[in-house]
Amino acid sequence: MEAIVVKHPLLAHALTVLRDRDTGTADFRLHAGIASQIMLVEATRDLRLSPKAIVTPLTETEGMALDERVVLVPVLRAGLAMLMAIQDMLLDAAVGFVGLERDEKTAVAREYYQKLPAVHDADRVLVLDPMLATGGSLDDTVAILRDRGCRRISLICIVSAPEGMQRIQERYPDIQVYTASMDESLNEQKFIVPGLGDFGDRYFGT
Ligand code: PRP
Ligand code: URA
Repeated sequence: MEAIVVKHPLLAHALTVLRDRDTGTADFRLHAGIASQIMLVEATRDLRLSPKAIVTPLTETEGMALDERVVLVPVLRAGLAMLMAIQDMLLDAAVGFVGLERDEKTAVAREYYQKLPAVHDADRVLVLDPMLATGGSLDDTVAILRDRGCRRISLICIVSAPEGMQRIQERYPDIQVYTASMDESLNEQKFIVPGLGDFGDRYFGT
């Protein structure tokens, strides 16, 4: 597995707003969207295009059209934050959902929902989850997707911990993980440090 740390000044700025404990819900939502879109741009650099003949108001010309089916899989609930911004850039993408929730005491994820479209070998599957902590949630998600026949999987996470990254790396050596930051560690409650706290709670104002 390849870990790709995305670098961009606008992403660094957005991440700092997300990390700041004084950032309120409205600003958190705005910058979560900005960060997600910048990361999507990096994660889709290799999407296939095919030539497309079009007519501008002035003349005939050849443009390019996306020539791959993309399936977005947000991990509920926090992945929804990324989905909303990313759908604005990938208007035709199919969307599937996996619902997982970490137990507050054990930090072990429990699956509570699954709704996935039919997926073909060639489809490009982008899993959206802003936080890669122990890696349990994404490990389970990739296992579900592999079971459903997904072959081309990339993960997009805003903040990652080395522990989670290593787990995914060992379990799935062939998938890419795009992240805006590889943080220092996990604390005793398995929260990412320095991190940004509970992403879902901050995004949804709960
Ligand atoms: C958070 C986050 C990830 C998971 C990461 O979700 O959105 O899905 O924790 O932790 P892990 O790598 O240790 O599994 P949470 O379970 O808090 O649910 P939520 O998205 O509903 O807030
Ligand atoms: N989930 C979060 O939202 N934040 C963390 O730091 C770890 C898991």
